[in-house]
Amino acid sequence: MARRKKIYEGKAKILYEGPEPGTVVQYFKDDATAFNAQKRDVIEGKGVLNNRLSEFFMTGLNQIGVPTHFIRRLNMREQLVRACEIIPLEIIVRNYAAGSLATRLGLEEGMQLPRPIVEYCYKDDKLGDPLVSEEHIAAFGWASQQDMDDIVSLALRVNDFLSGVMLAVGIRLVDFKIEVGRVYDGDFMRLIVADEISPDSCRLWDIESGQKLDKDVFRRDLGSLTDAYSEVARRLGVLPNAAPVAKPRLIN
Ligand code: TMP
Repeated sequence: MARRKKIYEGKAKILYEGPEPGTVVQYFKDDATAFNAQKRDVIEGKGVLNNRLSEFFMTGLNQIGVPTHFIRRLNMREQLVRACEIIPLEIIVRNYAAGSLATRLGLEEGMQLPRPIVEYCYKDDKLGDPLVSEEHIAAFGWASQQDMDDIVSLALRVNDFLSGVMLAVGIRLVDFKIEVGRVYDGDFMRLIVADEISPDSCRLWDIESGQKLDKDVFRRDLGSLTDAYSEVARRLGVLPNAAPVAKPRLIN
């Protein structure tokens, strides 16, 4: 069997050339890193969970007309995705104060924000993914004003979708990060949601207990990361042999 070509290896995933032009195989590793890879570990089963969870969220987004790179899951650790040109930005949407926003502005973690806030970080590990403004993005040509309008609209649609899906299983979507890529159809360029959507890239808190069900469990040494991710998967009905939580909760 011919060895496939590795296109890129990141901290949590590997990209291989796909079987057809314009496709890529995305492989989810078990590696967990935080604080720009200063903290690292291998957490058995994380890749399998994130592959399934990202499939679940991306499929739902495709179904409501939010375009994503996701085509289909191939196996436990791999999915087939559309090749795209990644815009070098991490797009963060926040509903409640937490993490770097809480630190930067001295806000209490868990405070509801007056409205969803969209932030951008420039994707550069050497610089630690610094926060940037639309001014930087336009001046350095990372994205045009039209792209930025489309990116904000995509990010807010993802926020509405994910918030609703999580609320229905008793989980608060505190914040999340997406990446966006360009695809070309003839003369036209479109932006699609790429990378992954998983508890690695979201903050998810149990609505009743406040328990963290995301990568902060690893960042802050709060217990078993796979237990937390499995709980999210179980509630969403994503794990085989696990029933979803039947009772939607709409309380605060
Ligand atoms: P932050 O509060 O640390 O800036 O994180 C905001 C959101 O972005 C949170 O849901 C975690 C996610 N995130 C990533 O997906 N990758 C990263 O490298 C960082 C720093 C955060």
